[in-house]
Amino acid sequence: MKNFRKRGVLLLAAAAVCAVLSGCQSADSTRIVRIGHNQSTNHPTHIALTEFQTFINDRLGDKYQVEVYPSELLGSQTDMVQLTQTGAIDFCVASNAILETFSKNYEIFNLPYLFSSAEAYHAAMDDESLTNPIFDSTVKAGFTAVTWLDAGTRNFYTVNTPINSPADLKGLKIRVQQSPTNIEMMRLLGGSATPMGFGDVYTALQSHIIDGAENNEMALTDNGHGDVCKYYSYDMHQMVPDILIGNNAFMEGLTDEERAIFEEGFQLINTVQREEWTKAVENAKSRAQNEQHVEFIYPDVQPFMDACMPLHESMLANNPDLQSTYDAIQAYNAQYSQSE
Ligand code: GCU
Repeated sequence: MKNFRKRGVLLLAAAAVCAVLSGCQSADSTRIVRIGHNQSTNHPTHIALTEFQTFINDRLGDKYQVEVYPSELLGSQTDMVQLTQTGAIDFCVASNAILETFSKNYEIFNLPYLFSSAEAYHAAMDDESLTNPIFDSTVKAGFTAVTWLDAGTRNFYTVNTPINSPADLKGLKIRVQQSPTNIEMMRLLGGSATPMGFGDVYTALQSHIIDGAENNEMALTDNGHGDVCKYYSYDMHQMVPDILIGNNAFMEGLTDEERAIFEEGFQLINTVQREEWTKAVENAKSRAQNEQHVEFIYPDVQPFMDACMPLHESMLANNPDLQSTYDAIQAYNAQYSQSE
């Protein structure tokens, strides 16, 4: 990851110079559209973005050439959001957790145990009347969300301590994403939150700077965390979506016709990524079990949930405007629990 980072910094400098000097024109004067993300090239997100690349290059290739930069080549997610803000790059994928520091509205999708099933999660995230006010809330910051991506269910995993109840987290240093909600969640669960960027987690686990982390199953295989962590515990604490954000000036510069094609492309990303996701998770779980010898644990979720509930109350007290969004999500939870 370190080499990636160095290359990332160089690319960033090149991208910034290019943006200033030439508006990112390539030699044949097409506009280069840069998209950064922090996953590997096997990941559903990368697969979906390369389909978008093909789609846009086929439809608008005389004017735009999309380039996808995986694996933190353009920096950490926080770096990439800042680059998208300024227009040094055009799009990036950021976890909803990171976006909380750019707009408080994003706090809602970071709440632990907000969604009670994957069906309710998907239905709520697909409901534009619910997501649009949140996705548009960063317009003043220079970027807007254009679609969301599945990032599964987040669970705790540790180097050598099976987590069967919140009490087992006591005294453990657990990496969390860099968001106030996640830090508070860890405090409520009794562990010690260690916020850091995704690209630093593997080394921190290996050198025992942290005792564990929390993420979906793909982090075990795709990011190698299962080489070090041997216990993965399905406490199911969060379904935090990833969000594709775009630079406002770039999007405002598109003609209506181009904008419609880009919108179709954003929808394609969402569809392809979701189709790939289920297969990728099943594959990751079986590889983690059979090749990395990770033990999967199925604890009683209720004590974890009870510990986290004060976060729902405090989020609503601090953001009364989000009450109707919260209620609409609860209605989806009820609808899908009845249809089970
Ligand atoms: C998931 C998510 C990423 C995020 C990462 C993290 O992999 O898809 O967007 O960066 O978790 O824990 O930081």
